[in-house]
Amino acid sequence: MVKTMHFEPRSPTIASRLPEVGTTVFSVMSALAQQHGAVNLGQGFPDFDCSPLLVDHVHAAMREGLNQYPPMPGVAPLREAIAAKVARLYGRNYHPDTEVTVTAGATQGILTAVLALVHPGDEVVVLDPCYDSYVPAIHLAGATAVRVPVNAQTQRPDFAAVAGAMGPRTRAIIVNTPHNPSGIVWTAQEREQLADLLRPTDVLLLSDEVYEHMVFDGRHHISASGHPELAARSVVLSSFGKTFHVTGWKVGYVVAPAPLMAEFRKVHQFNVFTVNTPMQHGLARFIADAIQADGLSAFYQRKRDLFRSGLAGSRFKLLPCEGSYFQCVEYDAISDMPDDDFCRWLTTEVGVAAIPLSAFHANRPRTPLIRFCFAKKDETLSAALERLARL
Ligand SMILES: Cc1ncc(COP(=O)(O)O)c(C=O)c1O
Repeated sequence: MVKTMHFEPRSPTIASRLPEVGTTVFSVMSALAQQHGAVNLGQGFPDFDCSPLLVDHVHAAMREGLNQYPPMPGVAPLREAIAAKVARLYGRNYHPDTEVTVTAGATQGILTAVLALVHPGDEVVVLDPCYDSYVPAIHLAGATAVRVPVNAQTQRPDFAAVAGAMGPRTRAIIVNTPHNPSGIVWTAQEREQLADLLRPTDVLLLSDEVYEHMVFDGRHHISASGHPELAARSVVLSSFGKTFHVTGWKVGYVVAPAPLMAEFRKVHQFNVFTVNTPMQHGLARFIADAIQADGLSAFYQRKRDLFRSGLAGSRFKLLPCEGSYFQCVEYDAISDMPDDDFCRWLTTEVGVAAIPLSAFHANRPRTPLIRFCFAKKDETLSAALERLARL
């Protein structure tokens, strides 16, 4: 007789690669907003649709059978369109064959760039507050994130503090303009200050410019690609999701000098290999229709002004909003709650969801600051303002 042995199935215990990461506050607030029927000005995405023409182009590409793997760095017409746009707006010529790669959104671009260029034991400087994917990307590369707070009063980069944080192990610095969450847009002088700082070093620059087409009051986007010295050491990232109101498509791009791009692509090809084909053709054709993003700043500036004027009579104090689609406000005239509690209260009791600024910081400072997203239909903004204006 054969004896059968019985073993309990056992799930191995694993040490987390990202022990500090949990459910993000963005998901928490969106779920809470849905549960309480609140107007969701928390998570940063438009609640209106993209151009039907863009959808038609993607549809046509699918119908034409453009549904198989594209070339690893992206389809040629889209890479050419990206290179032409960067040359037109910022004056640098990136070669579409060797210096432009289409990515699955800027988030993949950031992770891929960090994994490709940062080594275990390196340090990477980030400006606090920052987009929440930077630090986990650095940790996955086995490196250390050195978080340098922005000036607390102005929310602008503090270059003396950045200089103090840089040392022999610094491999890269990640910057973001227009900035999420603060809405600050770098000036040409600030870009120059960064160039001065990096000049005597071999530090790489990762420049996150996903809100490049949303700059207000006559400002210009200050791209690292427009500064020859910085561009020579930079990976510049952008996102079609932000520019064409298609955040769910997750298509973005990266431009960098050929030697940096060669390393980027080594990781990209085993990370995603390619980005979906019909979306790439659709975007290329949409751009070829001469539909540029030039009108986007005016489009969002009007929404910003609508939102700001609606809050003007409330006790919220409006911080400057120079670009992006985020408006930060101070609420200490309304409540002394910590910002995450205040956001929960705002969602459940007032019916408007927002994001606490502490979520973007390492040490979660208890400042009375929250972020609203105004990339919403006018009626959505009006519904939110009706509730907020009473406060
Ligand atoms: C500063 C910043 N960088 C990158 C991204 C991600 O862009 P994508 O959706 O293309 O991955 C976001 C999205 O919120 C962002 O705010």
